[in-house]
Amino acid sequence: MRYRQFGRCGFDVSALGFGCMRLPCVGGDQSAIREDEAVRMIRYAVDEGVNYLDTAYGYHGGNSEKLVGRALADGYRDRVKLATKLPVWLCKSPADFDRLLGEQLERLATDHIDCYLLHSLDKKSWAKVRDMGVLDFLLGELRRGRIRYAGFSFHDAYEEFTNIVDAFDWNFCQIMLNYVDVEYQAGLAGLSYASARGLAVVIMEPIRGGKLAAKVPDEVTAALSVAEAGVAPEGWSPAEWALRWVWNLPEVSVVLSGMSSMEQVVDNIRIASDATAGALSRRQMAALARAREAYMARVRISCTECGYCQPCPEGVLIPDIFTLYNDGGTFNAWESCRRMYRGIAKAAKDASKCVECGRCEGACPQQLRVIELLKEAHVALAE
Ligand SMILES: NC(=O)c1ccc[n+]([C@@H]2O[C@H](COP(=O)([O-])OP(=O)(O)OC[C@H]3O[C@@H](n4cnc5c(N)ncnc54)[C@H](OP(=O)(O)O)[C@@H]3O)[C@@H](O)[C@H]2O)c1
Ligand code: SF4
Ligand code: SF4
Repeated sequence: MRYRQFGRCGFDVSALGFGCMRLPCVGGDQSAIREDEAVRMIRYAVDEGVNYLDTAYGYHGGNSEKLVGRALADGYRDRVKLATKLPVWLCKSPADFDRLLGEQLERLATDHIDCYLLHSLDKKSWAKVRDMGVLDFLLGELRRGRIRYAGFSFHDAYEEFTNIVDAFDWNFCQIMLNYVDVEYQAGLAGLSYASARGLAVVIMEPIRGGKLAAKVPDEVTAALSVAEAGVAPEGWSPAEWALRWVWNLPEVSVVLSGMSSMEQVVDNIRIASDATAGALSRRQMAALARAREAYMARVRISCTECGYCQPCPEGVLIPDIFTLYNDGGTFNAWESCRRMYRGIAKAAKDASKCVECGRCEGACPQQLRVIELLKEAHVALAE
């Protein structure tokens, strides 16, 4: 295993971190973790040098933290930096911060969290918990020792990211980054911004939650072809290309992968033990750039998710719907996108609720024909 500095915190972390959000489960029930197998996978990873584990209050229907607590018994707890997250959407008053952290310590069977994150911040949730005094809570817990390092994970636009980075003396942050989403959310610019200010940067979704590894379009496979990219004779799998791209970035501290089988754990440890920053050749970087272009050419709607069309008076979640429609086609991921669309429909915020008032079209800086495109997306997603 290779190790990298964790910002200015004074310790090193393994290049690969274990994301405990995609553990093996029984059937399609995400809350029914196959516990013995998951414990075996986590302990194998730690024995092979992985020393950073990432979980959260809500993962696997609340069962991930308990499973991680079990995996870290028998002396494993002291061998890792344990990260978990405050579910900011469940915080209705400042008393909830303390209550939730207490519950998490109990679930994880530990007396402290090494890396504690405010989970999934965006403009709205950040303003809410900031005004509720979450920064005082973090400072208090850092003093008290129930948490050792404070950070946040992020899902919003770059401008909001820099606001949050500048608002507190964070030790680290966690952002989504992969070779396709270089300008999405915090993106590469966010990586530079945070690392230049001394924050350790933890990467999530390096394989875009698996979308860059499964059902890869032919044109992407062609772009990454061994002959063109000049890699080892046996070639790299799409997952390996994606992981190596992230480890090529020197500003990255730890790359989390949510591994759902022992084969993936073994595979990713092998790659993490070999990949170094700056190791990819010009030809390999060019192959990845071609693969990215091939994905981008498949995007159907040029929605930037700016949100100017929101709120729709009828509650239609326009940017979310366009993202699902784009992802379904771009990554051949119709099954998961349709599942998520069913959730939107259940909340009565799907495209069928549009009454064609036209407000969104006037607000859209991309001048998208929102009404027509919503109809198109609905046909594809509501199947
Ligand atoms: N804070 C947040 O808001 C937030 C959001 C997202 C994620 N996270 C954290 O970040 C972690 C990493 O994100 P992620 O789970 O989306 O990471 P990811 O590595 O992009 O996706 C994981 C998926 O990629 C596939 N995969 C992994 N290794 C592979 C390999 N060697 N070969 C082929 N396929 C492989 C698997 O898909 P299949 O299971 O389909 O085979 C796996 O479930 C999460 O587990 C979680 O801890 C946090
Ligand atoms: S046209 Fe439809 S989607 Fe757009 S604002 Fe009006 S009701 Fe909402
Ligand atoms: S205003 Fe246009 S570009 Fe912005 S989120 Fe809405 S549809 Fe997308």
